[in-house]
Amino acid sequence: MTTEEGPIAKDAYDKLADTYAQDVENSAYNAHLEFPGTTALIPDVEGKQILDAGCGNGRYTEWLLDQGGEVVAIDVSTEMLTRATERCGGRAEFHQANLGAPLDFATADEFDGIVSGLALDYVQNWHRPFTEFARLLKPGGFFVFSVIHPLDEYNIDGDMDYFEIEQRTKEWEPPVPYYRRPFSEVLSPLLETGFRVDAITEPQPTDAFKEQRPERFEKESKQPVFLCLRAVRRES
Ligand SMILES: C[S@@+](CC[C@H](N)C(=O)[O-])C[C@H]1O[C@@H](n2cnc3c(N)ncnc32)[C@H](O)[C@@H]1O
Repeated sequence: MTTEEGPIAKDAYDKLADTYAQDVENSAYNAHLEFPGTTALIPDVEGKQILDAGCGNGRYTEWLLDQGGEVVAIDVSTEMLTRATERCGGRAEFHQANLGAPLDFATADEFDGIVSGLALDYVQNWHRPFTEFARLLKPGGFFVFSVIHPLDEYNIDGDMDYFEIEQRTKEWEPPVPYYRRPFSEVLSPLLETGFRVDAITEPQPTDAFKEQRPERFEKESKQPVFLCLRAVRRES
């Protein structure tokens, strides 16, 4: 098992919690590019046990509940968890947990599916969470996640090293640290921890995106921003 790592973005998300829904969740990028791309990969969750890993203020938790899923949701930020709890009331179970450490709140083979929207970008070594996800999923269970695309914010003419997992900063208020990684560091940890890749998409902006951010539509139709992936826990 790999070493535990501390959560680099907890303090930033604790501070962002008040403005997150307005400034990030409802932005054209999250609401009309990443969210439709990711939800399109999620199989039927009716009556299924689903883990929302890095639930934030409960955007995916609420959607999964509305689709009939029974949801356990985790996040490292106490403030984001408070917003998620308020949003979803008593409909889901919430735990504070760090994706870079053992997920002790759950037992093996407990979940039919795991969904993680834009949360893994804050974990450097994905072997840890993926090993835990493989343990928590039933054989054949699905794992759908979205992350920043490896080529988003990668400057091919600059001095960045494509092959490095490098810590960068989103210049929000407050600034949010995250990791950019190459494609091999997306796929290899999955394949090495007991998953097979089932579907992969690089979502395109929707009509609603065009309505909200017409000046960004053409650019984002030609360049990848997010990567969405569905993996399945191998049977053995
Ligand atoms: C961009 S938000 C996404 C929230 C939600 N999944 C969504 O799509 O709206 C990222 C979330 O990941 C959480 N997060 C960051 N690092 C984490 C870690 N190491 N363990 C668990 N959650 C983490 C943050 O607290 C934040 O709520």
